[in-house]
Amino acid sequence: MFDTIAPDYDRLNAWVSFRMDRLWRRKAVRQMPQEGWIADWCAGTGDMAREYLKRRTNRGRVVMCDFSTEMKRLSGERLGNVDRSRCYYVCCDVTQSPFKDGVFSGQMQGFAVRNLENRPAFFQELKRCGQANGRGALVDLSVPANRLWRWMCNFYFGKIAPRIVAIIARRGVFAYRYLSESVEHHASPASIVKEMTDNGLKGAKYAPLAGGIGVIFSWSERRSEETESTDRG
Ligand SMILES: C[S@@+](CC[C@H](N)C(=O)[O-])C[C@H]1O[C@@H](n2cnc3c(N)ncnc32)[C@H](O)[C@@H]1O
Repeated sequence: MFDTIAPDYDRLNAWVSFRMDRLWRRKAVRQMPQEGWIADWCAGTGDMAREYLKRRTNRGRVVMCDFSTEMKRLSGERLGNVDRSRCYYVCCDVTQSPFKDGVFSGQMQGFAVRNLENRPAFFQELKRCGQANGRGALVDLSVPANRLWRWMCNFYFGKIAPRIVAIIARRGVFAYRYLSESVEHHASPASIVKEMTDNGLKGAKYAPLAGGIGVIFSWSERRSEETESTDRG
């Protein structure tokens, strides 16, 4: 499915979200360390990686991971003029990655938590591959808690966005229908934070974006160590 939508994916995202997707990615990327190895899980065409590499103060290296070979192929064009010597692409399933334990100082993801078939296995990978003092941020769409706002968003994503997609997309309109429906059936942010904590990610929390249409999940092993040592006095 992701191979099918790859050619139109970035353009459509920008149209359907009024470019808010870019702002939200930026917010998640700002939480990444400036040094070390950074994972971009479910990287697609590399939007998160590009955002990280564009920031002059960042000196880390980014490993993009995704199982769609078509997304990987297109990332070559879409990454633009970022420093290519600091980015790599690995085609793999993010729930069974080939990386060594504790390699990443930062881990990020854009718009994929809800698409993962085995989310607990992914959170276990985040725990296994993250450094002892590492941190991470995952941004995704969500369902607003406010009933009126939720109704308006459901109307937009259910009725208007599919028409925009039908006009612009060359292929895979069905896939976009699946993606917008997957938001409605998405687990609540609080239950996802609980899953993160249950799978060992320390200091997991979430912050709603634009009244809850989006959400950033984050964790920081270091912050929770500091909190624990402060608690111990
Ligand atoms: C909605 S796109 C997000 C792309 C990009 N991160 C962004 O910010 O726009 C979701 C991506 O997740 C990838 N994906 C979904 N499940 C995966 C898995 N289990 N392993 C690897 N990639 C996966 C898909 O191939 C697709 O490229």
